[in-house]
Order: sequence, then C-alpha cells, then structure tokens
Amino acid sequence: MMKPILSRRSALGVFGLAGLSAAAGCGSSVGGGGGGGGGSASGGGGSIKVGLVIPQDGVYTPLGVDMKNGWDLFLERNDGMLGGYEVETIIGDEGEGPDTGVPAVQGLLQRDEVDVLVGIVNSATALGSAETVTAAKKVLLIGNAGAVALTGADASPYIWRPSFTNAQSPRAMGEYLASQSIEGGVYLMAPDYAAGQEVVAAFTAAYEEAGGTIAGSALTPFGTTQDFQPFLSAIPGSGAGATYVFYSGGEAVSYVQQYASFGVKDTVPLYGTGFLTEGSVMEAQGEAALGVQTTLHYSTEIDNPANQEFVEAYQEAYDVLPTCFSMQVWDCALVLGLALAETEDLSGDAVSEALDGLGEISDSPRGPWSFEGQSPNHIEYLREVQQGDGVLINAVVEELGEYAQ
Ligand code: PHB
Repeated sequence: MMKPILSRRSALGVFGLAGLSAAAGCGSSVGGGGGGGGGSASGGGGSIKVGLVIPQDGVYTPLGVDMKNGWDLFLERNDGMLGGYEVETIIGDEGEGPDTGVPAVQGLLQRDEVDVLVGIVNSATALGSAETVTAAKKVLLIGNAGAVALTGADASPYIWRPSFTNAQSPRAMGEYLASQSIEGGVYLMAPDYAAGQEVVAAFTAAYEEAGGTIAGSALTPFGTTQDFQPFLSAIPGSGAGATYVFYSGGEAVSYVQQYASFGVKDTVPLYGTGFLTEGSVMEAQGEAALGVQTTLHYSTEIDNPANQEFVEAYQEAYDVLPTCFSMQVWDCALVLGLALAETEDLSGDAVSEALDGLGEISDSPRGPWSFEGQSPNHIEYLREVQQGDGVLINAVVEELGEYAQ
C-alpha cells in the first residue's frame, strides 16, 4: 500500500535537507527518502519490475551477495516501495563475465520485461550490455561496473551510474602517492580485462603527471590466476618503493594472502583500489591485510548519520559489516525511489529525466554526492586496514577530496 508522503522536492521545500528522511515516512530515517514514495504531484504509483543483475557464480560472487543484501535492506526499510511503486525484483545471474552476463541482461529485458535494471559488477559485461539496454529504452542503474565509457561522452541516455568509474579511485591514489615521494616509484598489477586496464591507465596518468615514475607493471589473466608468485617475484627486483593494484572478490583474497606469504609485504608496502579489502574478502585475508592502504568512495568508518544508521541496520540484518557494493546498490534504490516519485510513467525517457533533475543526494552513507553527467561526483577516502573491535576495518585516514567521472 502506498504511503502518503511528500515528494523529495516538496520535502526539501518544507523541511530542508535534514528533515528529508523523516518526511519520507520511512519506518526509520534509514532508507534515505527514496523509498516510501507516493504522494508526490507526479509520482505514478502501481508496481515496477526491477531486474537485479548480480554475480552468483565466479570470482565476483561475494560482491553479488553484498549487492543483494543492500537492495533487500533498502526495500525492507521502505515497505517494499520505491517512489510510490510496489517493487517486484527479478534476479539475473551475471556470472563471471559477458558470456553469462549479457544474456542475463537480455533475458530480463526481453523475457521478463523489467522496467528498470540495477546492478552489473563486471565492466566487460556492462559494456557488452549497453547496446541492448539502449535499444530497449530502459534505464540501467549501474551498481558497480566502473568502465569509464559507460557514462562518458558517447554514453547511452539510459545508463546511469550511482557507483563509480574505474578512474576515480586510482586518480586519487596516484595524486596521493606522488605527494609521498616514494623512492623507486610504484609497481602496478591488475587483472587483464577492461577494469584492470582502466585502473592502471588512470593511476599511471595521475601519478606521472604529479611527478611519479612507474617501476614496472603486470596484467594477470582474469579469473584464472590462482598463483601470483611468478608475477610477485618481479616486484622486489624492480626497485619499487610501493605496489599499487586493482583486485576484487576471490582474486583479492589470493593476491593479498600471497603478497604477504611470499614476503613482498615485508619490504614493499601494498596499496590498491578499495575493493582489495572490502568486507568478506578482507575477513578471509586476515592478518595479511593489516596495514594495506586503499582509496575508495566508501568505508564503514565514515562518520555521518546516514552511514551510522546504514551500518547499524545492515549489521542487525546480516550480522556482518556492509561494503561499498552493498552501499552502491542501496544508493541505486535511493536515487531510483527519488526519481520515481517525480515521474508520470516508467518509460526510460521519463525515469532518465527525473534522475537528471535530482541534484545533491544528501543522505547517502558515502556522504553527499551528485550526478555529474550520468556518473557520481563524490569524495574519495584514503583508508588503512586496521584491527577494529574483533573485526578488521578500513579506517579512514584522510578525505582526499571530490572526484568525478
Ligand atoms: C569492474 O569490472 O568494473 C569492477 C569489478 C569489480 C570491482 C570494481 C570494478 O570491485
């Protein structure tokens, strides 16, 4: 049943930003105001079919679990509603890459006739799905995949990204490490597919522009590399003063464990994109992760009320800390709810137009952010793995400023 609440715009007018969550009529202020929906001048009502595309198989399976948790939690906190629409969620299994992911997207659009798609972890899958999404004229809210082109100059008008691009975190780290004047420069490693290549390119550009030198690099076969030793053994001899990597999911576990067990960690400190040490992956790495520094647009340790409530609600529901992956899909639900409260219908054009008009998202666990074009402008945080209260945490060392596209 629809709850009579104010639309986001009218809520802002009456209550100001601070009152938004309460005005949205959520059971608690967690839920961010995008859910309870209804009652706006234009919000449609009825029901909406959402295709949630997440990996349930392969290297990125842990990310899929976190994403589904984030989606379910948001809906649960908002009585299963987004912007006045009752939500029916249909899961599509992305698997590891485009061979499985693209057919999953096609099936959701063509067989299940979903109104909106949310999710996709792998950049190659998202890139491979873009044409189908555009032809179907349905909105895709990217819940992870960072491929820069998806929201670049030639972006589909239907693809919106509440998550991040593969350039944001490495640019922040490139500039930060250059400011640290690392003797011998930095050695780079990443899996050899779209995301790994983009991370290496963005870090290299930012680091070199700020005066740093790249000591060497290796791209490892994606999804099939179990033994990193042949690649790791080149690092000490390169003279590098630091290693910077992009690995995520199952590969992040093996990489960080092997980086420590082969002794490289003792002499060359490890840095990375924050995915390297998120959630269950960091738990599995254990002590090997201690001291690893990363940049990311999220940490459970960010000190703001939206994050405190999000972390608490997530822990209560799942008995673990959330991750950036859960937060990204939470934010997909948040912005979709806000947009749906402003649309007359569920066409891709109407939803896109509403997304375009959202302005600042003030109640995200990552801190305030806004769409710049179709991609977020948000804060990058420098984080360090530390021992928390019985669990490892990504402590926030420093805010490195805002980064976009
Ligand atoms: C990507 O393929 O864009 C990707 C995958 C996993 C991550 C981040 C980016 O953690």
